[in-house]
Amino acid sequence: MKTAITELFKIEHPIIQGGMHYVGFAELAGAVSNAGGLGIITGLTQRTPELLAKEIAKCHELTDKPFGVNLTFLPSFSAPPYPEYIAAIKEGGIKIVETAGRSPEQYMPALKAAGMIGCDAVSVDGFECGGHPGEDDMPNMILLPRAAEELKIPFVASGGMADARSLVASLAMGAAGMNMGTRFIATKEAPVHDNVKKALVAASELDTRLVMRAIRNTERVLKNAGVERLLEIEREKGAKLKIEDIHDEVAGVYPKVMIEGDMDAGAWSCGMVVGLIHDIPTVKELIMGLLGAESRASLEVA
Ligand SMILES: Cc1cc2nc3c(=O)[nH]c(=O)nc-3n(C[C@H](O)[C@H](O)[C@H](O)COP(=O)(O)O)c2cc1C
Repeated sequence: MKTAITELFKIEHPIIQGGMHYVGFAELAGAVSNAGGLGIITGLTQRTPELLAKEIAKCHELTDKPFGVNLTFLPSFSAPPYPEYIAAIKEGGIKIVETAGRSPEQYMPALKAAGMIGCDAVSVDGFECGGHPGEDDMPNMILLPRAAEELKIPFVASGGMADARSLVASLAMGAAGMNMGTRFIATKEAPVHDNVKKALVAASELDTRLVMRAIRNTERVLKNAGVERLLEIEREKGAKLKIEDIHDEVAGVYPKVMIEGDMDAGAWSCGMVVGLIHDIPTVKELIMGLLGAESRASLEVA
């Protein structure tokens, strides 16, 4: 399938794996790129720019296909050294950077100096998405056609995407491909604890919660005991909530969940699409499955 996205990123299928904290390691990014999609390493999961350089080198060993790096600009307890991360990306020969969280304007000069062309495509996240859906609560059935009306550059549909139906719908609404987050966690190659994958298969579309609304840093997460505690604090504090009040339920949670498999540690991103996740395929099976029978036949031959 050829679209503006496959042409732009020189990939076979218009499928992108979104940056995911403590999930987007070289193993997953490499597997997605090897299956013909675009894998993305999550930059800030690597605690230092030197570690990011190593992760990029590892991914180059796993695939000779294009892959990208995600740089997230969200409020954090300590601001990361973005210029040094951008330098590591440049030295790693990366040509594709996914930025998120807010406008990358401030870092565009550094990104352009590192060889990125500009903002060439947008990943449009609806209210359904895992992670940060923004504060406007706009679902993809409205957001994607609106994006098609406004944007002159190609975009991919993101949030709630799981299968062939999602891809067809994305293309129908004007997108040139789709981005998946949550769905890629429940794959054999995702380098996360088995408890996480099992929790995704077990959960339904009713099991996500929105946290941090009061501080305008809304995040969609999978409900668990830590999230229940967090919501209780949020209810108590109301509009007076400060990030410090919920430090224990949001800081340092990802390694506990993704590496140790402690499913009640606190808030970690998960999309409503979790209701459509019933199995743990390989990345290749997932991508081929959503491309339809024709591609599946060629997979069997290969
Ligand atoms: C566990 C998890 C961690 C995520 N971490 C990040 C991140 O660090 N930076 C980012 O830009 N997006 C992050 N996202 C958002 C994804 O890149 C993607 O936009 C989102 O998952 C799409 O919605 P979906 O989960 O419904 O597919 C994360 C999503 C999940 C599920």
